[in-house]
Amino acid sequence: MTFFLPFFRWVNTSSLSLEIRASTWQFAVIEMVHLIGLTMLLGSLMVLDLRLFGIGNVRQRAADLARDLRVWLLSGMAIILGSGVLLFFGEPMKLYGSPSFRVKMILLATALIYQFTLFSRATKGKDSSSALHKLAGVVSLVLWFGVGLAGRGIGFL
Ligand code: HEM
Repeated sequence: MTFFLPFFRWVNTSSLSLEIRASTWQFAVIEMVHLIGLTMLLGSLMVLDLRLFGIGNVRQRAADLARDLRVWLLSGMAIILGSGVLLFFGEPMKLYGSPSFRVKMILLATALIYQFTLFSRATKGKDSSSALHKLAGVVSLVLWFGVGLAGRGIGFL
């Protein structure tokens, strides 16, 4: 981790970080936006993942549902990632020492790669509640909710 220390120190002395830390309200507002992105992202993923599992919106083909939810999923992702970077600027040295933050970043990188490769291929495949569909849905839920739990864990550890 010491490899990353100069980067965290650079963020800590940047004007954006100083500005957020000096403000009494900015961090709270950014965190609120982070949670709006979280709702959009995890909400749309949940509907899609349950469909892959054969629960919920089963009258619609999984590939069509994935296409309909795409705008919510991608905008939720953009909002949560953008606000996440700002939150990072708001407390870099605390995050440097946080095991939860490390777990969160590893899970996040894994979830992003998975989402745009294997998961996306699985939802485009032939429509059925196959074992592959179910597996794709479970892995997606575990990864993204893992990111969320680790995010919540930053406040404690
Ligand atoms: C660039 C990516 C991201 C960064 C840098 C980031 C950073 C942060 C930071 C610094 C906090 C505040 C932690 C604290 O002091 O308590 C936080 C909170 C949180 N983040 Fe993220 N985050 C990112 C993406 C995500 C994603 C993708 C999710 C969910 C799938 C997520 C879920 C959460 C949750 C649930 C909280 C706790 C909110 C609360 O306790 O009020 N974050 N994040």
